Amino acid sequence: MSRIAYVNGRYVPHARAAVHVEDRGYQFADGVYEVCEVKHGFIIDMSRHLDRLGRSLGELSILWPVHRSALQRILVEVVRRNRIRNGLVYLQVTRGVAKRDHAFPAPDTRPALVVTASRMSPGTSASMAEAGIAVVTVPDNRWDRVDIKTVGLLPNVLARQEAKDAGAQEAWFVDADGIVMEGSSTNAWIVTRDGVIVTRSAEYGILRGITRTTLFDVADRLGVKIEERGFTVAEAQEAREAFVTSATKTVMPVVSINGRPVGNGHPGSVAAALRAAFFDIAEKTDA
Ligand code: PDD
Repeated sequence: MSRIAYVNGRYVPHARAAVHVEDRGYQFADGVYEVCEVKHGFIIDMSRHLDRLGRSLGELSILWPVHRSALQRILVEVVRRNRIRNGLVYLQVTRGVAKRDHAFPAPDTRPALVVTASRMSPGTSASMAEAGIAVVTVPDNRWDRVDIKTVGLLPNVLARQEAKDAGAQEAWFVDADGIVMEGSSTNAWIVTRDGVIVTRSAEYGILRGITRTTLFDVADRLGVKIEERGFTVAEAQEAREAFVTSATKTVMPVVSINGRPVGNGHPGSVAAALRAAFFDIAEKTDA
């Protein structure tokens, strides 16, 4: 079956889906995006992802490309047309197409919208979670508005490649004081030896992950406590467990940091319990 993408008002074959060379996303990374997981034919946490999209757009003074309810229908339609049961749906909004000039284009320039969907095997994610992933740390060299989910991801790209070159699956950005900020495309968590779940505050310096937000609901339901505070690389290496969260990884155990095993070097029971309960509690939109 051929893949379908949505590009500026049209559903087109994925192989021929294209944007203009003067799209500001292409030229300036002047755009924002969201990734929602699709699980068993449901789009997960769509409302929270669209809330965050609205915030990202607002911070950059980009208008909604279509009404929020129309965008919801497009997300569902792209998932349907691609017959995705398990995978992800990606949406990107840029400030639109205009003659190259750094300042904003004329106010009547229409924001550009692209939506794609792709399949992920649930087995691949499950076996990754059974094995756990390795993390390396890199200095945080990003700008200070990483709370906005922009397509300007070059530091994240370079960090992830550094992880890959080191045989790891994720890179954690660390600030000048040795505090772990977040992963290249995930939020970072530990479970202390006393069983307390710790993640840094999302007030600044990281993206407020939707999986992170929903995990607070999950922890609440399971009756476990989450402490919002920074932790160092050393504390994470000494922790009982570590894990990362994102729409594509749900809750993914971390079994080593810079080559040092975390806990007993195997995925922990707290991460497993959170992962197991996640989809019961997350919002599910039928696609
Ligand atoms: N990344 N931090 C960063 C820098 C991210 O890029 C992401 C998501 C997260 C987790 O956010 P959420 O739980 O809403 O997925 C944290 C997406 C999945 C990506 O870029 O593919």
